[in-house]
Amino acid sequence: MNITFVVAMMAEAQPFIDNFGVKEVPDFFDPLPSKLYHARLGRATDLYVVLNGQQHGSDLIGCESASVATQAAIQKLHPDLVINSGTCGAFKSNGADIARVYLGNAVMFHDRRVPGDDEWGTQALGNYDVWSGTEALAKKLDLPMGKVTTGSSLDMQPCDLQIIKENKGELKDMEGAAVAFVCSLYHVPVLLVKSVTDLCDSSAETYDEFKRNLARASEELCKVNVRIIEELLQ
Ligand code: ADE
Repeated sequence: MNITFVVAMMAEAQPFIDNFGVKEVPDFFDPLPSKLYHARLGRATDLYVVLNGQQHGSDLIGCESASVATQAAIQKLHPDLVINSGTCGAFKSNGADIARVYLGNAVMFHDRRVPGDDEWGTQALGNYDVWSGTEALAKKLDLPMGKVTTGSSLDMQPCDLQIIKENKGELKDMEGAAVAFVCSLYHVPVLLVKSVTDLCDSSAETYDEFKRNLARASEELCKVNVRIIEELLQ
């Protein structure tokens, strides 16, 4: 089995990299900045961690980078399962809390609008399939599930919130739907694992809250990812 994690930021992946002792495979995606880490688990499982890499001195975040990294990973590694693991904003009005880790039971874009055309409007929102084993895994590990909605910005404009609410979005991120879109094109199942760094309906400044909680949310993300791998290896 080949399990490939696609992660945007090193801060999100580091606890997991340390825990599994995955080793960097230098220049694997050259000329792309994406980075590959690998470990063999047991006799028959390859665990890969793909990071988007950096540009202008910071980790590449957002949909374009996630799409490029996911496409490169699928073409070069042929994963059986892609896991997009990362952080998200969530809503305390839905019962969310900082560093709580969710599995995505649905995924769409919240900032792609085509008013006046139903077909392109629907295509723009995406609504891609997630791995069919997601619900069973959530039950087994006693993890909450939520709908991931993806956009290109950390902040949230009123029109984003309107689409999120209309579509019952719960977990706001910047990569999930892009990873799921590429997976849908290649017919590769995708699991979304999201840890909450900030509450979209709190009065705190989103970026400050995100930065303040990033390390703790990434530690919790790692713990859940370890349990997921253990379960997948059963
Ligand atoms: N990643 C972490 N928090 C986020 C938020 N509020 N919006 C988008 N992506 C995020």
